Amino acid sequence: MNRKTLCYCLLLFFSCQSNEQEQKDVLTNMSKPSMIQISKNAFGTAPDGAVDLFKLKNEQGMEVEIITYGAIVKSIKVPDKTGKIGEVTLGFNDLAGYLGEHPYFGAIVGRYGNRIAKGKFSIEGTPYSLATNNGPNALHGGIKGFDKVIWKAAEVPNGVALTYVSADMEEGYPGELTITVTYTLDKDNALKIAYEATTDKTTVCNLTNHTYFNLAGSGDILDHQLMIKADWMTPVDETLIPTGELKGVKGTAFDFRMSKPIGKDIDAEEEQIQIGGGYDHNFVLNMKPRTRTLIARVFEPSSGRTMEVLTREPGVQFYTGNFLDGTIIGRSGAIGKRSAFCLETQHFPDSPNQSTFPSTLLQPGEKYETSTVYKFGVKND
Ligand code: GLA
Repeated sequence: MNRKTLCYCLLLFFSCQSNEQEQKDVLTNMSKPSMIQISKNAFGTAPDGAVDLFKLKNEQGMEVEIITYGAIVKSIKVPDKTGKIGEVTLGFNDLAGYLGEHPYFGAIVGRYGNRIAKGKFSIEGTPYSLATNNGPNALHGGIKGFDKVIWKAAEVPNGVALTYVSADMEEGYPGELTITVTYTLDKDNALKIAYEATTDKTTVCNLTNHTYFNLAGSGDILDHQLMIKADWMTPVDETLIPTGELKGVKGTAFDFRMSKPIGKDIDAEEEQIQIGGGYDHNFVLNMKPRTRTLIARVFEPSSGRTMEVLTREPGVQFYTGNFLDGTIIGRSGAIGKRSAFCLETQHFPDSPNQSTFPSTLLQPGEKYETSTVYKFGVKND
C-alpha cells in the first residue's frame, strides 16, 4: 500500500461525517490508480505572495486549471460533439487580470456567498456589521473575501486541496474559520468541488464557486437550454435581497422545470425579471436535504456540449451575466452582457436575517461539509 492509499484509508476511517455518496467516491478512487495528470506551475506574484497554477487533465482530454489566488477555476476545457476540446468558462490568461476588477470569475466566494441585507446580522443576540460593498448590502464575503486571498494548496488523488484560515472578525465575521476546498476531476468529465469548514466561535458560513460558463465558448448564452429542478424561487426587492416569501415558478419566466432556452423569457415584463435585469435569483431546489442530487442540466445546441450540476445545497443562484457590459477584457476579448451564466450552488441569500430559510449558522465542534459536481458531456440534437 503506498502513502496516498494509506492516507485515503485513514481518511475514510475517520470521516464518519461523509455521506454515502462521498464514501462511494472514495472507494471508487481507491480501487483504481489515479487517471488524472496533475501539474503545478508558478502563475506570478500577487501583493500577498506567490501564486501557483494547478492543471488537472483526464484521458478524454478534459482540462481544469485552478490558481491559488481566490482558489479560482481559471479554465475548463471539454470536448464538443466533434471531439474538439474547447474553453467553456470566462477568465483571464494572466494573474494581472485576476488581480484587477472583475465579478468573481471562477472564484470561491465566502465567508458568505451572495447578499446580507444592509451588511448586518446578529448571532445569539450579538450584532455584527459588515462592509456594504453592493449598494446598501454586503455581497460575497466583503471587500477582501475568499476570492482575493492566497490559499495553501496540496495535491491529492485526482486533484488539489486548497486551505485558507480566515481570522476571527476578518471582514466583520466572528470566529476563526478554517476552510478546505478540494477540486477533483474524474475520468467521466466531472469536476467535483468539496467544501469543508470548522470554526472556533459561532459564525455564518455559505460557500460557493462563481464560475461563469458558456458551453459554446463565445457569443451570448441565450440559446443554451436549461433545466432547473425547482418548483419555487425566492423573490427579491430592488436591492436583490429576498423578501422572505417563496414564489411558485409555475406560469412565470422562472419555470425551468422543463428545459427551455435561457433567452426565452429573459426579458419578460415580470417584476422579478425587471428587478434582476434578467435572471439573478435563488431557486429553491427540489431535493432531499444533505443528499447530492442532480439539480440542473444545460445543453448548448451548436457545440452539442451538456453540463449537469449536482449538489447537496438547498439553493442555486442562477445569474445570467446581466452586469457584464463589455468593459472587462477577458482571455478572448471584451466580455459582453449575458456572455455567460453562473449556477452558484448555495444556501439562500440573506439567510442570517431570514428565520424561515435553512440556517447558515456554524457552531464550534460542527463541520460545514458540502459538495457540488459539474459534469460535462455531449449530445447530438
Ligand atoms: C452574484 C450576484 C449578482 C452579481 C454577481 C457578481 O451572482 O447575485 O448580482 O453581483 O454575483 O457580479
